[in-house]
Amino acid sequence: MKPDLRPITPELLPAYLQTDARGFAANLDRRPDDLWANLELERAVGAFDADELVGNGRNYSLELTAPGGTLVPVAGVSWITVLPTHRRRGILRSVMDHLLADACAHEEAALILTASEAGIYGRFGYGVATQVLGIELERRRISWRAPAPGRVRLVSPDEALAIAPNVFEKVRRAQPGVVSRPDVWWESEWWDTRDAAPRFDVVFEGEHGPEGFALYAVGGEWSEGESLKTLFVRDFVAATSDAAAGLWQYLGNVDLIGTVKASNVPTDTALPWLLTDPRAMKVTSRRDFLWLRPVDVGALLGARTYAVDGRLVLEVVDDGPAAGRYELDGGPDGAMCTRTDAEPHLVLDAEALGMIALGGIRPSVLWRAGRIHAPEIGAVTFADVLLAAEHEPTAHTWF
Ligand SMILES: CC(C)(COP(=O)(O)OP(=O)(O)OC[C@H]1O[C@@H](n2cnc3c(N)ncnc32)[C@H](O)[C@@H]1OP(=O)(O)O)[C@@H](O)C(=O)NCCC(=O)NCCS
Repeated sequence: MKPDLRPITPELLPAYLQTDARGFAANLDRRPDDLWANLELERAVGAFDADELVGNGRNYSLELTAPGGTLVPVAGVSWITVLPTHRRRGILRSVMDHLLADACAHEEAALILTASEAGIYGRFGYGVATQVLGIELERRRISWRAPAPGRVRLVSPDEALAIAPNVFEKVRRAQPGVVSRPDVWWESEWWDTRDAAPRFDVVFEGEHGPEGFALYAVGGEWSEGESLKTLFVRDFVAATSDAAAGLWQYLGNVDLIGTVKASNVPTDTALPWLLTDPRAMKVTSRRDFLWLRPVDVGALLGARTYAVDGRLVLEVVDDGPAAGRYELDGGPDGAMCTRTDAEPHLVLDAEALGMIALGGIRPSVLWRAGRIHAPEIGAVTFADVLLAAEHEPTAHTWF
């Protein structure tokens, strides 16, 4: 049976919040006036069983930074839930079809999401576009190779809210993979009010003002007379390498902390190389962060720059709008990507294209996994060089 999908009106918002809480096995702690829940409500959809709202989903209008700095309009898929009483009957599939059609209607180049579980979204054409590291620093082992310049200031949440969005704007124009943060995101989503741990905000200031910020919580207890507290980095954004060094030095030097933990660290972080003993930074995980489903392949690949000049023909296998052959002609100054009948150098599905589109995963790695096919191996090697981004893509924003 095809689920009955209906738009979510303001009157349905309380039910929408309750379905979300039940689906995520969480307390119902968002109110109907919640800013993030109300943002672009017209793009939210619900699946109904008679009058019961049993499944949720929605798109937000976001921007994704392509390598080279172009901001690409994308649909940010969020609030995906199906009640435990109605799972595995195709409700999610139906919601995903709706959200894909909605992104096409909004002429967005791709859909993006952050996933609760990594086994869900590949079947819908989403690939892992950016990854992150989970890390731990043992504070007693830390010593820095050189003192960081600039200064770090502890600020109130209100002052942080006045400073951080401006720093973030600079960063997202320079760093591939970054997802925009709408104004209400900062007020509503930046700090999870369910987090009972105390909140701290720090700002790094260089010669010309704020260049970075970090948001962290501290948890844990004094144990047998010794403090074994843990500092949890919740958000860390640096516009310059001085800011990154200054913020890490601050976070690593807070007294009474045994361990510093951060779960969303860019894969190409310079942190180990700031330390005298690089093993003081332990990598505890390497995970998917941003998933990307190409919609308008020409717009997506045509928006970015490429490491070298070159031409590549891609055949995208898809049961959706990304299907077809595309000729990509790109270089360090920009690119064109148009439909073609030419013979393909690479054949791949939408999921694999999502993985290589921002330079996050090298085509040759997917070729070795049997996920990209190529008549000539030389084309795969060339694609590795062409698609590499100056920085590994990092998304920064959860949604
Ligand atoms: C994930 C969730 C939305 C799936 O909803 P659903 O209505 O049961 O999914 P569907 O019946 O439409 O399943 C579609 C396909 O996805 C698969 N699938 C669904 N949930 C899956 C999961 N958690 N892991 C792996 N595969 C999953 C189904 O087996 C089915 O596969 P098929 O294409 O081979 O038939 C639901 O289990 C849920 O609400 N989970 C808790 C909240 C959550 O994690 N939401 C996602 C936030 S990013």
